[in-house]
Amino acid sequence: MAKPITAFTCTACGASQPKWAGRCDACGAWNTIIEEAPLSQGPGRGLGALKGSAVPLTDLATREAPPPRAQSGIAELDRVLGGGLVPGSAILVGGDPGIGKSTLLLQAAAAFARAGKSAIYISGEEASAQVRMRAQRLGLGEAPVRLGAETALRDILTTLDTERPDVAIIDSIQTLWSDRIEAAPGSVGQVRASAHELVTFAKRRGTAVILVGHVTKEGQIAGPRVVEHMVDTVLYFEGERGHQFRILRAHKNRFGPADEIGVFEMTGGGLAEVANPSALFLSERGEPSPGSAVFAGIEGTRPVLTEIQALVAPSTLASPRRTVVGLDSGRVSTILAVLEARCAIPFAGLDVFLNVAGGMRVNEPATDLAIAAALLSAREDAPLPADTVLFGEISLSGALRPVTQAENRLKEARKLGFSRAILPSATKVEGISGMRIGRIPDLTSFVGETFGAG
Ligand code: TYD
Ligand code: MG
Repeated sequence: MAKPITAFTCTACGASQPKWAGRCDACGAWNTIIEEAPLSQGPGRGLGALKGSAVPLTDLATREAPPPRAQSGIAELDRVLGGGLVPGSAILVGGDPGIGKSTLLLQAAAAFARAGKSAIYISGEEASAQVRMRAQRLGLGEAPVRLGAETALRDILTTLDTERPDVAIIDSIQTLWSDRIEAAPGSVGQVRASAHELVTFAKRRGTAVILVGHVTKEGQIAGPRVVEHMVDTVLYFEGERGHQFRILRAHKNRFGPADEIGVFEMTGGGLAEVANPSALFLSERGEPSPGSAVFAGIEGTRPVLTEIQALVAPSTLASPRRTVVGLDSGRVSTILAVLEARCAIPFAGLDVFLNVAGGMRVNEPATDLAIAAALLSAREDAPLPADTVLFGEISLSGALRPVTQAENRLKEARKLGFSRAILPSATKVEGISGMRIGRIPDLTSFVGETFGAG
């Protein structure tokens, strides 16, 4: 008889291993590998043993209507979902503890309920009374949301199967336990099994299921990344604790563009939508000061202006500090190296601090030119003109590469009162009335034109 196949899985990263080991090869964690239940062997080998039923097949030309979407009326949320919630879809909302996930989803549940959809909110973390109190504080006491406090997956599924709501919110996936497997709530096995059953339920019954997941310090949904692969949409709720801005970012979306963002402000009365994020992100800008550059970016389908701030100061350390918040520190190192190698502007012996104002995070390569401008302006102690925005990707040779959607960026800048833009020469864009455009072929000429001989 064939030996049962046993699987070993790392409880930290979810990697599967052929045999038990003290340390996980994939993530390096110690004592995290557990044995999982053996796979069942099925009815046997060979085609004769196939017992399944045939799957109905269609061809690519088959036309199906686009999925109908349920709008919550919270525009920032609907946009990140790709235009609304698709029935039967499974959504994971990840974020640090305390960032506002429960608040957001309670508001979303109320909004869907008020829009005529049946909504159920199951909390495994708080008692119903606590959730109700929060709802009253948020002014949602009258919304027809059904509440439950439960962690037993079987009971939750039975309830959902009886009620058949349009939207079910499970807060959080880490508190659930399934009696089908023997592992503690929050462990990889439990999280994966619970998510799997809920996703299957969503597909079968057409209920949109929204799962809340806490994120570990390393920035992963705690436990298995496998949950990210199971669901249709992964949204991250981000923000700095000290700031009031919160950003809902689509990390993956089978039903819409990824990288789309929704911007909210945490207020005493819950999360408020921010319809014009550029104005908010630039609102702290005062008089033109050295080290500040305004980047005209694109987040998903929407232009967003942000302020990049740099501080450059003599260092007392053998290896000077490079502190970067909200930007990719690898890109910043590359830009510092290009400035040094191609423009002969050294940063050795200088501490460098860089961040994006307002606690925003920017990932676009087009940020390069604004980062370089902020660094140079801080180093030279010379403010950039207050009426100017910048964008462009810097290559290792120091050349500027064009970026997409230049026109959208320029229009947004003009709307916010900017009258000049510096961008790569090769950018395809017609002139825009009211905007002067400085076209720059490479970083050296940018340094020359903006800061004299450099
Ligand atoms: P919460 O939604 O409980 O976070 P999560 O579910 O991600 O752990 O949000 C908790 C924080 O939000 C808490 O520190 C207080 C703050 N908050 C407000 O500032 N205003 C409000 O109206 C609410 C409900 C919460
Ligand atoms: Mg919560």
